[in-house]
This record gives sequence, C-alpha cells and structure tokens, in this order.
Amino acid sequence: MKKIIIPLLALTLSGNTFAQQKDYGQKADSIIALMTLDEKIGQLNMLTGNWEATGPVLQDVNKSEMLKKGLVGSMLNVKGSKNTRQLQELALQARLHIPLLFGQDVIHGYRTVFPIPLAQAASFDRSAVKDAAAVAARESAAAGIHWLFSPMLDVARDPRWGRVMEGPGEDPYMASEIARAMVEGYQSAGPDGLKMMACAKHFAAYSGAIGGRDYNTVDVSMQTLHNLYLPPFKAAAEAGVASYMCSFNEINGVPSSANKYLYDLLYKDWNFKGLVVSDWGSIGEMVVHGYSKDRKMAAEQALNAGVTIDMESYCYIDHLKALVAEGKVTEETLNAAVRRVLIQKYELGLFDDPFRYCDPKREKASLLTDENRATAREVAGKSIIMLKNEAGLLPLRKAPASIAVIGPLADSKRDMDGNWVILSHDAIAVTVLEALKEEYPKSRIEYVKGCDVNSTDKSGFQAAIEAARKAELVVLALGETWDMSGEAKSRGDIHLPGVQEELAQAVYQANPRSLTLLMAGRPMIFNAIKEQAPAVLYCWWLGTEAGHAVTDVLTGRRNPSARVPMSFPSHLGQIPVYYNHKNSGRPPVDQAGNYSGRYIDIDYKPAYPFGYGLSYTTFAYDNIQVSTASDGLHVSMTLRNTGDYDGNELVQVYLQKLWGESTRPVKELKAYEQVFLKKGESRQVELTIPYKELAYYGQNGWQKGDGDYKVYVGRSAAEVVDMKEISIVNF
Ligand code: GLC
Repeated sequence: MKKIIIPLLALTLSGNTFAQQKDYGQKADSIIALMTLDEKIGQLNMLTGNWEATGPVLQDVNKSEMLKKGLVGSMLNVKGSKNTRQLQELALQARLHIPLLFGQDVIHGYRTVFPIPLAQAASFDRSAVKDAAAVAARESAAAGIHWLFSPMLDVARDPRWGRVMEGPGEDPYMASEIARAMVEGYQSAGPDGLKMMACAKHFAAYSGAIGGRDYNTVDVSMQTLHNLYLPPFKAAAEAGVASYMCSFNEINGVPSSANKYLYDLLYKDWNFKGLVVSDWGSIGEMVVHGYSKDRKMAAEQALNAGVTIDMESYCYIDHLKALVAEGKVTEETLNAAVRRVLIQKYELGLFDDPFRYCDPKREKASLLTDENRATAREVAGKSIIMLKNEAGLLPLRKAPASIAVIGPLADSKRDMDGNWVILSHDAIAVTVLEALKEEYPKSRIEYVKGCDVNSTDKSGFQAAIEAARKAELVVLALGETWDMSGEAKSRGDIHLPGVQEELAQAVYQANPRSLTLLMAGRPMIFNAIKEQAPAVLYCWWLGTEAGHAVTDVLTGRRNPSARVPMSFPSHLGQIPVYYNHKNSGRPPVDQAGNYSGRYIDIDYKPAYPFGYGLSYTTFAYDNIQVSTASDGLHVSMTLRNTGDYDGNELVQVYLQKLWGESTRPVKELKAYEQVFLKKGESRQVELTIPYKELAYYGQNGWQKGDGDYKVYVGRSAAEVVDMKEISIVNF
C-alpha cells in the first residue's frame, strides 16, 4: 500500500493509534487550526463522480485538480474499490491529505438487489428490513463506499408520487420502526470492522407534494408535519443515524435547504451530532423557488440554517469565501460544519487508513454471494402480498402438466430490480419464467408476451389466448417497467399501464385457472383484475431473487405474510386515500341520500386498505384483553392457526383518541407483530404500547395524549377483530 505522509500533527491526532484520545472533535479542531479558508470550504463541497449523474449537471469542472487542491470533501456515484482508491489518492495529494468520503444511493441493495423499500415495508418484518440493510452495507463497504443515502423515510399518502417506491408507506409508526431497523442494519460494523454512515432522507415532508408531482410545493400544518412526516426522522436520530439529507421542497414558504426550524429541531431538540447534506443542487434551487435572491444568498442561508455539505450546487465553493469575508457567515459557523465532516471521517477510520475500504479481493468475495442471494430471496418472499385467492388456486399442490406464462414482465430481468439500483444495468435477476422452468422441469412451459407494458398494441393477444387455452395453468406477469416509478417519475394516471388489463381479461376468459402477478413501484389501480382474477399476488419489484421468491409462494414453500403498506385507491378521484384520516363531523357512509362525506359517483373506500393481505391459512383471536401497566398499554390475546398451513399472522393494534385538545385520526397503528404459528398451534400473544407513543402535537404544541381511547385489534385497518374502550390516564 502506498505510504501516505500526513503532517505530524494530524498523524499524532489520528484514529486509534492514540486510543487515549476518544474525542474526535478535538482531533478535528487540531486539523481545522491548520486549514486555509479554501480548504475548509472544500470539505463542505460534494461532487458526483464521472460515471453518472443522479441530477442535473450544473458545472463542468476539472475534478482532479479540485481534488488535488483539497476543494472537494466528499463524492457520490463513484463505484468500486478501484475507482474510489484512484480518487482517494488524488485527494490525499492535497496539502493536508484529508481523505474523501464516498456516498452512494444504495436504496435497496448494492450488487445483490433487494425488494424496493415499499415492498420491504409490506413485509411488516423488522428483522427482514434490518437483514437487507446489513447485506447492502457489507457489499457497499467492500466496494469502497462509506456513506449510504438511505433510509428514505418519506411517509407517503399519494401513489401518483413516483418516489413512494423507495419509501416506508403511509404510516408514521411503521416508518419509525423501519427507520430504526435500517439505521441499525446499515451502521452496525461488519466482521471486517468497517462501519457505514446512513442518511435519513429527505428531511422533510417531501412526499407531501401537491398533486403527487415530484418536487412540488408542500403546504402542511404543524400538526401534520409533526404527527405524520417527522416521526421516522426522529426515530432515525434516536437510532444514531450519522447524517440527514434535506429535501427539495419548501415547507410553508421556506425551502428545506434553509429551513432553520427543521435544523434547530434536529440539532437542538433531537441532539443530533452528525451532518446534513443538501440534496442534489437543492441549495442553488432556492433561487428558483423564489426564496434566495441569488446563489450567494442561498449559500449564506443554507449554511447558517444548518446544512453542512453542498451536493452539486457549487454554491458553497463559489461563494462561502466572500460570505466569510463579509461577515455574513462567521468562521465559527464554517468551522462547526467542517468539524462535523471531519468527525465522520475519524469515525470511519479514514485518517488511520484512507484505503481501508478499497480492497479489490474483499470486494470480489463480498458481492452477490450465495448467502446474500439467500437473504434477498427470504426478504423478497416476505414482501409478496396475496390480494386474492379464490377457488383455492394457490398454493399449487402439484406440478402442472403445462403452464402458459404470459405478460411483459414475466421474463424481464431489468424490471425485476426496479428503480434506484446501482449495478443492475447488467441485470442478473431471476425472472418468473426462469424460476418456473427450474421449479417444473417436466412441465410444458410456453411463454407469450401478449403485449408491451405501455402501448395500445393488442396484436399479441391472440397468441396469448391460444397459449392460455392449451395450458393447465396460466401465470400472468403484468405491471410497470422499472422506470415508471422513482424520482421524477410521478404518474397522473396510476392504472395498470397500456392494454395489460384487457390482456388479463381475455386470458381469464380463455382459462379461469389463471393467476396474476402484479409488479410495480407503487400501488396501481386494476379494478377489472381485482374483480375477475381468481388469484392475485402483488410482487412490487423484488430484485435479484424475484422469480425464486415467487415460486416459493406459488408452491406453498412460503405462506404469504406481507400486508398493504400504503392504501390502494380504487379510483383516481379518491387520491389521497389513507387509513389514518380524521373523522370529520360527517364521515362517509355507504347509504345514498344523506348528508355524509361520501362520493355520489365512486366508492370512497380504497381497493385494498392498509394492513390487508391474505394467507394460505386462517387464524382465530380469543380472549383479547387490554390493560394499563407501568410500562404502557398491554394488549394480549390467544391466537390460533385454524387452517391447513403453517403461517404468519400480522397482529395489528390501532388506537383512536376519542376527544381532546385537538382531533386525532380514527385509527393509528401503534403496535404490530408477525406471529408464526404451525397448523393447529395456538399461542398467547402480548403487545405493549409505551405511553410515549400516545404523545401528539396539537394546537397547543406537544401533548401527553392521556384520555379516552378505543383500542382496535385488527387484521387490517378496515378488518377489526375486536375493540375495547379504555381510559389511559395518570402515566
Ligand atoms: C437525488 C435524490 C436523492 C439522492 C441524491 C443523490 O436527486 O433526490 O434521494 O440521494 O440525488 O443521488
């Protein structure tokens, strides 16, 4: 390894060689004392690598020269230990040899691609989410990456917004649980001792964009901001997340990139010690927002508000020197930001060894291992929601003599990986067709595409119908292509695209033994399939092991256990539709002809409510008890597997505060647990809701939440098994 000569002072203060000095802040201050103004500003400047841009490229600069002058503190979109080593070597040529941080959007896996985060949310399985994050962290660290721009924690209610695919769904409690699981999975050191920085994004309320149009204005009450959007970000802080990324949107007139209310909350109330990075170009975009007069003012506003690093807007590198000279940004504010960056670099051990993440042998040995693929298959199987299974079509009890595999997603490797993938452009995912051929080598399997994803061309229908007629079983695979959900991929019409639903109807006519797999990055509308299909599995985008996860469920090796993480609208006109709504004074009812909040032309209820999903078995709940204890509200029951298969039941507990200082939602999920029971087995189940979960932000600020409640035990937000009333006071 090339020996790097670090100035004696920096060396004497570096890392663990002088274990007695634990305070990285002191070490950082010692380096800051050596830095010029340009070098300080350089640490706050993040540039993308030359391999790809994940946003609009604003300037064409000589990055090598900037690196050698110490004018870049971190980079993104640099993949592989070889590439990161090359750029690290350039950065270490700068006067103080301060190592670079490398960040990457590892949203659902690095080389082994996992189900999209919305699919992982559907698993309602904390350990599955954590396992996926841990594999992603190990693969990323082996590839020279230090910093993962994940978890994305934008609670979302509008499926027109393309980024619901990378988020935690519509519930703030579940989103908080996901935040904790992902931060722990990402930031726990691996066996090689390498740690990662996670990044809670996008801070905040980005998903509240009006009309579901990406980057659009967010106009939100303080109650909704605190009770819906902020909880998962607070959970991430409690879990020790290393960084936050600000969002593109404004909140009530102030863009997040300079929203001092947000960063005072973060640094002062939540006692956050890490760093905040802007989103791509978001500081400069405050001029476009009409908030900053020019990019210089934007730089002043962002740094003074608390944004540490400027990603790809060049506002900091272009204007901070003048702002400091003019006293508009104090050198103390600048030093505080630089300290936050240097402390992270110490935490990762980069001052000890800037190349400790750059080991090509470890990289080769760590990526796409059988173990990682097995984890991906497990998580994918836990993410599949069975929406319908009539006539007992599933599970398949024996090998069908013949199978017609139909639809544009049945054999598409790239689409299985979905959006926000790092290395899947040479997609290696297992398709449904491949997995069915593996599963049933003796069956006659015919594949007919039938139609494209997003076209009006029905010329392939006839071949599909003929194939369906001849087959004992039909497997349809329909949905969105990988680039129909994701960033800047909002859709005004979220129906199943093209003529796919017509193809499905024609196939059902030809052969009623048809099962339908729907693959997408968002909830879609597909009412004809919902009504006519004998069996429907919602498969999202399941990643590298997609096909195997599907056959695990089709054969009954895995009993489906996933549930709806975000309400599926039955009509575009309902949007936004979500379970944790307020009651209003005239809630909707089914009967016509009265003064209620119903529509006169469409159903007001979602096609599939939050928490909904079917299993191959059935469960009975007995002896449900609710009580208060010193540590919280206890909800217990005897749960029995009354069906013919072993399987999971997602026990869900919702609370409704009946009256008080401000109105509260008709239901709020406050506890959930996947409970596995063998066929015929019964078990005593108890869930505890700590009293702190009752707190809410009302018209007079934070409230304890003591008062009269209804406690619902449900199989979904709409299917209540039992309800108890209880007063929760004196805690
Ligand atoms: C993108 C996304 C953000 C991502 C960043 C870097 O615009 O909004 O989620 O982390 O830029 O790629």
